Amino acid sequence: MYNPQPVPDYLLQSSEVRERFARLKAREPILEVRNLTKRFASPQGEHTALADISFTTHRREFVCVIGPSGCGKSTLIRILAGLETQTSGEVRVDGKAVRGPGVDRGMVFQGYTLFPWLTVKKNVMFGLRMSGQGAAQAQREALQWLDLVGLEKFANAYPHQLSGGMKQRVAIARALANRPRILLMDEPFGALDAQTRAKMQRHLLDIWRNVDITIFFITHDLDEAIFLADRILVLKANPGEVQELIEVPVPRPRSYAQFNSPEFLATRARLDALIHPPTQDQTDEDIGAQPHMIRLTDIHDSVE
Ligand SMILES: Nc1ncnc2c1ncn2[C@@H]1O[C@H](COP(=O)(O)OP(=O)(O)OP(=O)(O)O)[C@@H](O)[C@H]1O
Ligand SMILES: [Mg+2]
Repeated sequence: MYNPQPVPDYLLQSSEVRERFARLKAREPILEVRNLTKRFASPQGEHTALADISFTTHRREFVCVIGPSGCGKSTLIRILAGLETQTSGEVRVDGKAVRGPGVDRGMVFQGYTLFPWLTVKKNVMFGLRMSGQGAAQAQREALQWLDLVGLEKFANAYPHQLSGGMKQRVAIARALANRPRILLMDEPFGALDAQTRAKMQRHLLDIWRNVDITIFFITHDLDEAIFLADRILVLKANPGEVQELIEVPVPRPRSYAQFNSPEFLATRARLDALIHPPTQDQTDEDIGAQPHMIRLTDIHDSVE
């Protein structure tokens, strides 16, 4: 059976990658998660969604989280955001224990969450006004953030007048306007078509390069995780546990030409093996077997 090896530690990578990780690890820790466990009561009894999760993220690190559906990714990010409480363990941001939502953490979800009754500009101004900023200053700042995401011209449009990609750019501007330390993103590009998604990935890297922000990004897409991340936190399901923390060996700046590089392919093969392990009772013949098809119409002849 093909069994890709773990991706080697950053110390064994190319000098560019090694030096970048050395710089990253020298920065102060922003997010510290220690022995985090979350149990939910369910009709079948108690369900452990997350078990003993521990990791540290440094300032301006880009972390992606990958794991099978139901492994607790959204539960984890909701606990980091303070929208859910853990059963045990600790989350610290800048050394302070998280006790609920706070302006130090901005959130972008997969579903579009802009206020439909407010213009784009007023959506971005919302948090600033809530934190007591005057209207003129809030407007100035909102326009700067809209400029950063390339949507200044749409400042007076309403969310329903924007495409999905544009809505997510406004959501990013709205989150960043509050000057969070960490941007928490739960499959933010999951509902976009492939082309828009690729554009948004490049755009997010541009923003990250220019803003003092640490990004914690959940995705189902293995290529997206490798393209974006410094490190990839791989979770396994039932219970959700850390399976591996991969130091992505692909140099920066990232480009699509790297998708076929040996480092990219080795990381992809490893992620694939971790996320989609062949089940033990499956034989090779089972894997190649055709599902049973019922003919509901007369197909006359073969199309292949
Ligand atoms: N409020 C809740 N009450 C009870 N069980 C919950 C609750 N929220 C999540 N769960 C359970 O916890 C587990 C993890 O759910 P979660 O939504 O975090 O998974 P996920 O990794 O984000 O999945 P997906 O990839 O499909 O988004 C699931 O088994 C889910 O049913
Ligand atoms: Mg989820």
